[in-house]
Amino acid sequence: MSESLFSAAGTDRQTIEQLRQIFKTRKRGEVPLAFVHTYGCQQNVADSEHIQGMLLQMGFAFTQDAEQADLILFNTCAIREHAEDRVFGNVGALKNLKRRCPEVLIALCGCMMEQEHVAERIKKSYPYVSLVFGPHQIPNFPKLLFTCVTQHERVFARGGETGEVPEGLPIRREGRFKAWLSVMYGCDNFCSYCIVPYVRGRERSRNPQAVLSEFRGLVEAGYKDITLLGQNVNSYGKKPDYGVNFAQLLRMLDEVPGDYRIRFMTSHPKDCTRELLDTMAGSTHIAHHLHLPFQSGNDRILKEMNRHYDRAKYLELVSYARRVMPDISLTSDVIVGFPGETYEEFLDTVSLIQEVEFTSLFTFIYSPRRGTRAASMPDPVPAKEKSRWFQELCKAQEAVAARRCAAAVGTVQRVLVEEEIPKKGLLTGRTGGNVVVDFPGDPALCGTFQHVRITNARNWILTGELVPPAGD
Ligand code: SAH
Ligand code: SF4
Ligand code: F3S
Repeated sequence: MSESLFSAAGTDRQTIEQLRQIFKTRKRGEVPLAFVHTYGCQQNVADSEHIQGMLLQMGFAFTQDAEQADLILFNTCAIREHAEDRVFGNVGALKNLKRRCPEVLIALCGCMMEQEHVAERIKKSYPYVSLVFGPHQIPNFPKLLFTCVTQHERVFARGGETGEVPEGLPIRREGRFKAWLSVMYGCDNFCSYCIVPYVRGRERSRNPQAVLSEFRGLVEAGYKDITLLGQNVNSYGKKPDYGVNFAQLLRMLDEVPGDYRIRFMTSHPKDCTRELLDTMAGSTHIAHHLHLPFQSGNDRILKEMNRHYDRAKYLELVSYARRVMPDISLTSDVIVGFPGETYEEFLDTVSLIQEVEFTSLFTFIYSPRRGTRAASMPDPVPAKEKSRWFQELCKAQEAVAARRCAAAVGTVQRVLVEEEIPKKGLLTGRTGGNVVVDFPGDPALCGTFQHVRITNARNWILTGELVPPAGD
């Protein structure tokens, strides 16, 4: 685990120093310890890395054991009911810990906190939660924590969207070779089922020069797999208008010399252009991997979802991508049981996955989100029935994935070696298409690209053997 700090600009140095002094005496052990748990998407993971950067400046070290911690922070996700239930369950479980160790500070942040009814529930039913803040308040985290510990009061800081993009926050990256780099925040698409635009606010892009400079820093620091993040990276540069669209941004980054790979997510099909696909095909560093969520294979449902593309447009994009990159690996998200979806309409989704043959798929059962348009649509299909459809879809995708894995046997793949799995006595890594490959080798190879011949495919994990460099 690396603990790199970029500049501390953007956070209040003095407040951080004061907090450092306070936690020097408040700690239970040798050093103040923070337990940070992140739910949800990579955007949340990236936010947590900034929060941990701030905590590091305050003198905190990190623990995986909440029982040892002086500060417990959950960065929450609101995307589905199940995600929220898990958070409430885990916060509820902290009640005893707080009773035994009243000096432990419990904080909640992230997307869930932007929902009024969630904040109210925490206020009323979880009195041992001392600090609550939403995604727009992340740069203010030191100030909020300071108020909380010095005024001995509960702090709720929500909203506060300014339209500005925070720059220069400290960061503590979890990975040694893989890094997340946010290029834009928020979402303006208002897909009818989705809570994200309500909790993450309006779309805003980072200045391309700021992205380039952070990217260069990552390459120089030895990161090998850099994923550009945004809810819809394809609308990068529209707001504010820097005169650089996403394909152009990719070309700027691709020119940075070095041995590394660029990925990006998520791409919305409505803004996925041929220029983007041509850029991927012609680049030196961009992985031939496209995460392109289709959500449904049926045109009526896509319209009801407010997705602004139809099945034909999606398939046309896929076929162009395959024409310019025959080795492209496609992954996607799909929702089963959108309000009013019939079995016949659902079957269009099944046929689409069979037609496209995705490498892997994230499948979700529709979950109503309060305040979204879909939440007020009639939803007559019983949960049990949706569950059966869901199983049917998973089975269809399993067959597709098994076929694709089997077809990889005999090929040679360029793999970024990520870590050793001591239990298996193997190294593990990922192909450009983001497929896991296990193989025997020296752990000193971690963090390097190696060529691996695929010898076997089981349970969607490929196994293989190192191909010695030419001349050996
Ligand atoms: N911005 C990305 C998706 C972010 S959310 C995009 O548009 O592609 C990740 C996935 O969660 C979505 O692609 C969708 O498949 C799923 N999802 C979002 N809201 C949901 C809901 N209310 N119920 C079930 N799945 C949902
Ligand atoms: Fe949600 Fe749609 Fe925005 Fe993705 S593009 S975050 S699914 S509203
Ligand atoms: Fe969840 Fe927020 Fe991401 S709702 S999926 S953590 S943007």
